[in-house]
Amino acid sequence: MRVRRCAVLWMEPRELAQFDLNDLLAGGTGVVSRLQWFAHAPHLPAPIGIDADAVAVLGETSPTDWMDANVMRQRFGAACVRKLLQAGLLIGSTKPWASQREAEARLASLHWHGLASVWHMASRWQGVDSAQGMIDAGVNSAEGLREKHGAPPAAVLERGGNDGRIGLPASVPDELDALLDARTTCRNFDPQAPLPLAMLSRMLIRTFGARGRMQAADEYDVIKRTSPSGGALHPTECYLVVQRVDGLLPGLYHYHLGAHALEPLPQPAGFDQAAFALTAVSGQHWFAEAPVLCVLAPRFSRNFWKYRNHPKAYRVCILDVGHLSQTLQLCATHEGLGSFVTAAINEVEIEHAFGLHGAIDGPLAVCGFGRRAQAMATYELDPNGRIWPLSKP
Ligand SMILES: Cc1cc2nc3c(=O)[nH]c(=O)nc-3n(C[C@H](O)[C@H](O)[C@H](O)COP(=O)(O)O)c2cc1C
Repeated sequence: MRVRRCAVLWMEPRELAQFDLNDLLAGGTGVVSRLQWFAHAPHLPAPIGIDADAVAVLGETSPTDWMDANVMRQRFGAACVRKLLQAGLLIGSTKPWASQREAEARLASLHWHGLASVWHMASRWQGVDSAQGMIDAGVNSAEGLREKHGAPPAAVLERGGNDGRIGLPASVPDELDALLDARTTCRNFDPQAPLPLAMLSRMLIRTFGARGRMQAADEYDVIKRTSPSGGALHPTECYLVVQRVDGLLPGLYHYHLGAHALEPLPQPAGFDQAAFALTAVSGQHWFAEAPVLCVLAPRFSRNFWKYRNHPKAYRVCILDVGHLSQTLQLCATHEGLGSFVTAAINEVEIEHAFGLHGAIDGPLAVCGFGRRAQAMATYELDPNGRIWPLSKP
């Protein structure tokens, strides 16, 4: 057998803190910390804790030149080599190691930039309740944030003094200004009001629909959307959690942009949709009640087909999602609906529900829209009173 190291690997020396009763009894703080190496290899489902000897082995093993396994065993010890093979950090050339080898080959075939793939996989959440997390950390209010972190950097940046400033002509606000100014993140959805199907249809075709098509080359179709997209590749797919839409069964759907149609997706056994919606937006109940949630998930391989192993390609995918989100917000505002975007999402649970694979078509954000509630229970930033009447002093 021959052995090599997996191609993409980042070693993290993480400090782990744990409660220690003996330390407390001995007069310490009761919190003892230790350093632990974690190997991030994005073809694996999660980072793996390894010891310093294994770090040295990985540091001395080429990801491209195969080595004889016996030579490796003699040099680094059979037990260590076996453990790293089992973990998938070393790749073996024979049949017993086929699944690790194939997982690595699958990732390589996607043309991820190495560091971007590490970052992407390591920033996915599973089972996170960010709403509760902010309460626990005391940062769920402006006052709490100010107390914890001091004052933020100034909202307005000044370069140079007043003297050289060139005042710009005032413009007369028009309908576009009214639309732009009315967009306000909605955290208060009417928990009963359904969304008319026609409204959902307009939202989808305006934000995600193919507004034009052409063939750039043989078997190379290009579509046009209302948002820009790196390389005109439009890799971002829209997956929907439909909760309350007239004439549409609640469930999970994929938006087919070619046919402007919804594709119902199978639900996992024992699926609780309301619980899933809450988990998807990591416990943010103010978003979970929206009648429609849209998961924005780029098909990375479509972008990476052009931008192969490119250091900017992942950034472009994130920007694409941001553009689609803003288009969605403005379309919703135009319909008189409230809308939101959040990146505080549990990607792993979303992937499971929709049958996605994080490295292939990973969710980056969730948007939602629907009728607003009559009263504001959760804070919304509306200093000009465009959405909520300003209370008189
Ligand atoms: C990328 C992104 C992520 C956001 N994530 C959250 C979030 O997790 N929870 C939330 O309540 N608001 C979230 N927001 C909304 C912002 O808090 C909001 O845009 C900001 O407070 C300004 O208010 P406005 O959108 O009403 O102008 C997010 C906004 C953006 C652009």
